[in-house]
Amino acid sequence: MCCLKAIFLCLIVVVKIQFCKPTSPTESPSDKSILLDFPDDTLQLILIGKRINNLKRGDIKGFKNLFDIELCNNKIENIEPGTFDILPKLERMNLSENSLTKVENGVFNNLNIRILDLSWNKISVIEETALNDMPELTSLYLGNNEITKWNPNWFQRTPKLIRLVFEHNNLNSLPENAFQNIESTRTDNKTDMCWLDFSYNQITELHPKTFAGVKYAEGINFKNNSISDLPPGLFSSLEKTSLIWFWYNQITCLSDEFLESLPPTLSDNIELDFNPWNCSCVEKSHDWSKAHGKTLSVLITYFDCVVDPLLKDGDAE
Ligand SMILES: *[C@@H]1O[C@H](CO)[C@@H](O)[C@H](O)[C@H]1NC(C)=O
Ligand SMILES: *[C@@H]1O[C@H](CO)[C@@H](O)[C@H](O)[C@H]1NC(C)=O
Ligand SMILES: *[C@@H]1O[C@H](CO)[C@@H](O)[C@H](O)[C@H]1NC(C)=O
Ligand SMILES: *[C@@H]1O[C@H](CO)[C@@H](O)[C@H](O)[C@H]1NC(C)=O
Repeated sequence: MCCLKAIFLCLIVVVKIQFCKPTSPTESPSDKSILLDFPDDTLQLILIGKRINNLKRGDIKGFKNLFDIELCNNKIENIEPGTFDILPKLERMNLSENSLTKVENGVFNNLNIRILDLSWNKISVIEETALNDMPELTSLYLGNNEITKWNPNWFQRTPKLIRLVFEHNNLNSLPENAFQNIESTRTDNKTDMCWLDFSYNQITELHPKTFAGVKYAEGINFKNNSISDLPPGLFSSLEKTSLIWFWYNQITCLSDEFLESLPPTLSDNIELDFNPWNCSCVEKSHDWSKAHGKTLSVLITYFDCVVDPLLKDGDAE
């Protein structure tokens, strides 16, 4: 009996030891407490590749001079609204390579940051007002996420925003008035023109009024999407741009109506290489441009079509 009792106790002890063992790597504890180790006058907080997870109010001290916070490659899934409100000098935030799934209202609003990098997360939801009221924001990086839908109501009162990077997401269309709140596309600022990067999405469709009101843009990038048609009027409000890329899409033809709607300053700034052109249509566009005294960079791709289309058909057989 005594002996049995001893075995029983022994079993309990073993079980207890198992519970107290360090947790397995999948449930490793957070390194969050290291955020509090820094002195109050810290200027830059750079903690890359740690195990910092969900951030709450109070996890970060009210560093009065902190201008740069870089928490790349951590395990952040959630950030409580208000977490960064106590950092009056904050200018740059880099939260790339984490596990954020949404950009919540109240996390970034009213911060005076210039640069916000949220790339390489798992973001699929951006709440409607989450990116409003950022008076100093110039650059927003949201590439390599899982965004499927563009909301034209984003970016209210972000007057300095000039760099929007949304490459490698899952967008499949852009609605009308997509950039109605991007003030830099409305004003002629020779030094700060807007960059819009939508390369490597699954965009099949652009609304004829996607760019309504957009007058100035340094670059517009739609490389590697699945756009098959450029609707007439798409760029009719553009007054100045350096380059627009449509490389690697599914464009076979440009309609006369689209060509006619292009502002005269624009026609040789559209790069249309690597599309599956219909050669007789390209020939038609070529004749059209000659007759109207326009140059089109589609002429570059015209070389794809120098081969007799009939011969190409023959090759395919
Ligand atoms: C953010 O950090 C990553 C990883 O260190 C880096 O590649 C990226 O350029 C940074 N973003 C900005 C805007 O500097
Ligand atoms: C426009 O350019 C000026 C410099 O000429 C600059 O100070 C200002 O911030 C720019 N505006 C925007 C919206 O970026
Ligand atoms: C994307 O672009 C690259 C060139 O940068 C090209 O080689 C590739 O075939 C394109 N991919 C698709 C899916 O179009
Ligand atoms: C190619 O374009 C020509 C001229 O616009 C058109 O008549 C023809 O149907 C098109 N072919 C295909 C396969 O779309």
